[in-house]
Amino acid sequence: DLPNTITLANITYNTDAHTNIPTSLIPYLRRNLHLQPHHPISNTRRIIESLFPTTQFETYNSLPPIVTVAQNFDCLGFPPDHVGRSRSDTYYVNRHTVLRTHTSAHQAEKFRVLEQVGKPGYLISADVYRRDAIDRSHYPVFHQMEGAMVFSRKDGKSVVEQVTEGLNAMPEADVEIVESCKLYEEGNGVQVEKGHNVDEAEAVARHLQRQLELMVSKVFSEAAKAAGAAGAAEKEEKVKVRWVSAYFPFTSPSYELEVWWNGEWLEVLGCGVIRQDLLDYAGQKDKIGWAFGLGIERIAMLMYGIPDIRLFWSQDERFGKQFREGVVKRFEAFSKYPGCYKDVAFWLPVQEGASAAGGLSKGGEIGGDKFHENDFMELVRGVGGDLVEDVKLIDEFTNKKTGRKSMCYRINYRSLERTLTNDEVDKLQEKVRSTLTEKLGVELR
Ligand code: PHE
Repeated sequence: DLPNTITLANITYNTDAHTNIPTSLIPYLRRNLHLQPHHPISNTRRIIESLFPTTQFETYNSLPPIVTVAQNFDCLGFPPDHVGRSRSDTYYVNRHTVLRTHTSAHQAEKFRVLEQVGKPGYLISADVYRRDAIDRSHYPVFHQMEGAMVFSRKDGKSVVEQVTEGLNAMPEADVEIVESCKLYEEGNGVQVEKGHNVDEAEAVARHLQRQLELMVSKVFSEAAKAAGAAGAAEKEEKVKVRWVSAYFPFTSPSYELEVWWNGEWLEVLGCGVIRQDLLDYAGQKDKIGWAFGLGIERIAMLMYGIPDIRLFWSQDERFGKQFREGVVKRFEAFSKYPGCYKDVAFWLPVQEGASAAGGLSKGGEIGGDKFHENDFMELVRGVGGDLVEDVKLIDEFTNKKTGRKSMCYRINYRSLERTLTNDEVDKLQEKVRSTLTEKLGVELR
């Protein structure tokens, strides 16, 4: 039942067995929330951009979301069997083309033109796409900002000298660094990257950390101010951060920056020293540099106190009219409408050679294809759209005799804008049930 072609942003692509973009997703490619004046995603983008000098960072905010598998994965060093590449995690236009899953898809092409542009760094903000669970903080479309900066080894000055000068010209960040991982974590397999020497890499990492500490100190003190204005007056405290060792295929060493927020550590961004083979590939053999990537929704949610990610997509003026560029004010929730739970249970088809091993899993085998939870999530989204607040697996068991596996999911229907009627929720649930049998070939219980 798959059409032979799919048209996205005015370009028509051939489809194939990899194609998995639901038609319900297509309108999102035109929304560009990060460019919509006064929208909190756009405001947050601008605030972060303003912390990077325009003389050093070129901004790219309209790069189209359709990229090649090479751009999104191959040239970044993702191994062929990386889970991120699977059809259950990524939207494929066809075998060779995807909706970008991260802004890093543009690294190589933007490194390649650094000289031409004449700035050592860039910022890219864009919509990115991932198949995922349904809850208040996940949405198949969200926005990322990516930044990078390189230093030339042929500058007359060494990279270490350039970094030292750069750091001297930057203020100390007003943050409390509670914890910091080592540059290279021994035993963790993170070693000095081929083509880097330790002094250079260490200098670049220090530059990266300072730049990002400056950024979060500003963003999170704004957020704390806005939160304080709404609630009890809190005394101004330094933003607490910690550096945690991480892994990305295209940076080494890699880190995550976490910020202490509302009594817990919040992962804010991933970053690291760009792997040399990537810069070499982009024609920048004599450069070394850093890159970071962050999710704009997460920051916008805490900055404005927005409790549900679906609100960003709301066209209700009670949402839109609350925001002004240049002002960070707490979002005032319009009344919370009642939710409605509906459970759906079904048997997965019997699997060849399936083991009865227990534990909550993400899936099993269906007619040679994997049943992946994300397939179910997408089916529910396809039917209920933004009327579904979250979906949880509440029970799973395997019948010892037949080897059949049963799953039970609880769907929470709730509109952000009005009270749903029983009748319409029943209809949605009925549609979920019929689509399930039709599309996933399961047997309802
Ligand atoms: N692209 C990474 C992600 O989406 C984040 C990242 C960007 C990490 C740049 C390192 C450098 O998770």
